[in-house]
Amino acid sequence: MRTVSDIAQLRAQIAEWHRAGARIGFVPTMGNLHPGHFSLVDIARSHADRIVASVFVNPTQFGPREDFASYPRTLESDCAGLAANGCDLLFAPAVDAIYPFGPQASVKVEVPGISDILDGASRPGHFAGVATVVTKLFNLVQPDTTVFGQKDYQQLLVIQRMVRDLRLPIEIVPAPTLRETNGLAMSSRNQYLTPEERERAGIIYRTLQGMRDGLHAGQARSEVETRARAALENAGLAPDYAVLRRASDLHEPAANERDGLIALIAAKLGRARLIDNLFTDM
Ligand code: PAF
Repeated sequence: MRTVSDIAQLRAQIAEWHRAGARIGFVPTMGNLHPGHFSLVDIARSHADRIVASVFVNPTQFGPREDFASYPRTLESDCAGLAANGCDLLFAPAVDAIYPFGPQASVKVEVPGISDILDGASRPGHFAGVATVVTKLFNLVQPDTTVFGQKDYQQLLVIQRMVRDLRLPIEIVPAPTLRETNGLAMSSRNQYLTPEERERAGIIYRTLQGMRDGLHAGQARSEVETRARAALENAGLAPDYAVLRRASDLHEPAANERDGLIALIAAKLGRARLIDNLFTDM
């Protein structure tokens, strides 16, 4: 696997592969990679001939009181993991390669309608930061196909909508969430948890399953959501939201709407803010 931080080198390699008729698959990441990320590389391989991954901790998607400075940067082990998992090229740019006028003065890509609810309400500006950096990365890598994890479901919808709106000729492949044995969704931020908190965090997935089962048992949506919050609070988590939403756009379903929904949770535990979700259709 080749690693480049320079845009000219990246472009030259991509151009060579395109000339040879290769289909390019792209997996954007912020590094600190775990098996969940490697599964994205695996999925990309089944849709493309050459795989490019990026490692870039994107300053514009972090709020002023969030963990940008302390976000784990583990480039050496990320390189080893990507190489072992069949990645062909790692793009690991510096901040000024992506933001030549500085992050604050950057052109912004906004995806209205979906970016201001749920995580967007709790993390103002987060999805504009994500949409902006992903647009820049797509523009540099020129992928044919790209893989995004379903754990960050709202992010996936933001990117799908952005790609459709900008008419980018890029296939977006959603990837299933990988879980620890207690159900905890794999995430780079899990490493903020103590071993005891990591065990306790399994309540999130069990609560999502309870929400799905409650809905199927005929409970009202408000009852399902109230019970879910209580289950999280009883386990010592601080829920930000525990809701049932329309999977297509994350808007509130009508009172009698029960198909095509998704249960979503965001909750704080210790130093970590954890998110997860589960489709409720069986
Ligand atoms: O999901 C992530 O790791 C990031 O939000 C992404 C898509 C790499 C953009 O920085």
